[in-house]
Amino acid sequence: MSFPATAKITKEGIIEIGGVSVEVLAEKFGTPLYVMDEQTIRQKCREYRLAFQNKYPNTSFIYASKALSTLSILKIVAEEGFGLDISSGGELYTALKAGVDPETIYFHGNNKPADEITEALEAKIGRFVVDNLEELNELNMQALKRGEKANILVRLNPGVEAHTHEFIQTGKIDSKFGFPQSGIPELIKKIKAAKAINFVGIHAHIGSQIFEADSFAKETDVLIELGAKFKKEGLEVKEINIGGGIGISYVDSDDPPPIEAFAEKIAAVLIEKAEAAGLDTPKLVLEPGRSIVGEAGITIYRVGSVKHIPGIRTYVSVDGGMLDNPRPILYGAQYKVLVANRALDEEKHKQTIGGRFCESGDILFKDVHIPMVKKDDLLVVFCTGAYGYSMASNYNRVPRPAMVLVNDGKAKLIIKRETYQDLIKNDILI
Ligand SMILES: Cc1ncc(COP(=O)(O)O)c(C=O)c1O
Repeated sequence: MSFPATAKITKEGIIEIGGVSVEVLAEKFGTPLYVMDEQTIRQKCREYRLAFQNKYPNTSFIYASKALSTLSILKIVAEEGFGLDISSGGELYTALKAGVDPETIYFHGNNKPADEITEALEAKIGRFVVDNLEELNELNMQALKRGEKANILVRLNPGVEAHTHEFIQTGKIDSKFGFPQSGIPELIKKIKAAKAINFVGIHAHIGSQIFEADSFAKETDVLIELGAKFKKEGLEVKEINIGGGIGISYVDSDDPPPIEAFAEKIAAVLIEKAEAAGLDTPKLVLEPGRSIVGEAGITIYRVGSVKHIPGIRTYVSVDGGMLDNPRPILYGAQYKVLVANRALDEEKHKQTIGGRFCESGDILFKDVHIPMVKKDDLLVVFCTGAYGYSMASNYNRVPRPAMVLVNDGKAKLIIKRETYQDLIKNDILI
């Protein structure tokens, strides 16, 4: 499994990240606490750039902001030369407030509301990734009224099945996302008839937490084949966007190859097949989310109680859980956990770590082996940077945790802890 680039365990067994001890972070900012390591985020962006630089230089990267969208995080990825994948007006708003160049923004989604399309046109974003004919029509009408042309990619369903969890699989034929291949002839006709649409290219996303570079090679191959159909009808494919989905190592059994391995396979297919299919060295676009921020994040929890049920199990309850990290209850997602100040202890005991929320499924770790914990111990969960905060809720009316960014021995608050006032700010008492 992977730790943040700056994570360390001192000889006393205390975990540090970004040069700051987890105990100090918990003391200063409270728990539960999301901590993001700036160096890891920057390093991941650079790894992508470097890997593709030699293999296929005409590549650009957009960060899938659904993984974690906050002003400071978006500023960092933009500084690293990444554009942005957004899938809502809220993500657009956050991006604009973070100072992201609208030209670099791609708008995704299988049901973009008309007012969010308007907001995106007003912001002059770079690309709409059109998912269906209704959206094409709406976008064309709005752009026509404004006397503008909207640049589009179309999301296609390549029918490639990535080996990952069923719930986070989107590229197979039976999917709510994208145009089925049988719909391509009609789509081409409609694009050609749409006066305010500028066709730029094609897009697909085959799933998440993918470890097989071959899945992307297959997807690229299918997209080139489909792209040839557009080209034949006079629609030049200038961009092929293969989506996100490269996996990360949450636990020891997760063993994704390095980014270069993906770059090598994807570039090989593009170089070999694109020209033959009549596509003139299209720009390649990737939109990673999890692999940019996932490993950079940790969550710190404080233990509240330890309950021994003789002959059955030991339950440890922490002060967070399914609210700040819904992935375990949603997908059975697994993580690595360590005791913050006893990370080197050899003696381990089987314990089940539960959250504080009113769902018996709110279990973060079942039967995990860690040193025996007691009230007030701190637990550190690794790899929580992606799809934790962004999927968090206010279940049980509990305020969402704060987030800090660490670097070079300093910790900066980048999201304030919610307050009770925040919880009722939209409530109206009758
Ligand atoms: C269209 C699209 N692009 C990119 C991503 C990012 O995927 P990941 O975070 O697995 O890289 C997603 C995730 O759901 C997506 O739906």
